[in-house]
Amino acid sequence: MQQTFTLRQFQPGDLKSVMSINQVCLPENYSPLFFIDLHERFPATFIVAEDDGRLGGYVMCRIETGFSSLSRTRLTKKGHVVSIAVLPEHRRKGLGSQLVTKALKAMEVYKATECFLEVRVSNHQAVSMYKQLGFTEIRVKRRYYADGEDAYMMAKKLQ
Ligand SMILES: CC(C)(COP(=O)(O)OP(=O)(O)OC[C@H]1O[C@@H](n2cnc3c(N)ncnc32)[C@H](O)[C@@H]1OP(=O)(O)O)[C@@H](O)C(=O)NCCC(=O)NCCS
Repeated sequence: MQQTFTLRQFQPGDLKSVMSINQVCLPENYSPLFFIDLHERFPATFIVAEDDGRLGGYVMCRIETGFSSLSRTRLTKKGHVVSIAVLPEHRRKGLGSQLVTKALKAMEVYKATECFLEVRVSNHQAVSMYKQLGFTEIRVKRRYYADGEDAYMMAKKLQ
């Protein structure tokens, strides 16, 4: 059957499903409070993909103030993609790109001028998705992950 996902803001009733997708897809897992806190502080950038009452993926972000990841010389508001995942059975159909694109647009609600994220250096799928979406590798964060793997920090200027 053809699946048509609708992208919408996370609601607290989605918590169980989002936590389950997170656990299936990523080694970085969080407490329920962590998800709810990001939803309460930045509701526009916590987005889920739903089809017929079932979730296929999510993206959650926060907005931070700090030195620009791109110019490093000025203070700015930056969107930070904290976590994104699409269930294996729904991958490679454009859902991940749609989730990030919608989150980038929503970051403008909070006056963010750029977006950054960390991604495992071995995560070629995600790195190529981010490159397709206009992100560039800024630097390597050594031993960023709990298991010792390095991360690329990637960033993109927003409109
Ligand atoms: C990364 C992830 C979110 C991508 O989701 P997705 O819905 O499959 O992504 P899309 O279909 O939008 O793919 C966009 C692009 O990413 C790249 N890509 C995605 N999956 C890929 C794969 N298996 N092999 C190579 N490139 C891949 C391609 O460039 C693809 O564009 P194309 O299909 O036109 O070639 C998904 O693989 C995932 O949930 N992975 C596990 C969690 C994770 O790694 N999150 C990112 C942490 S930073």
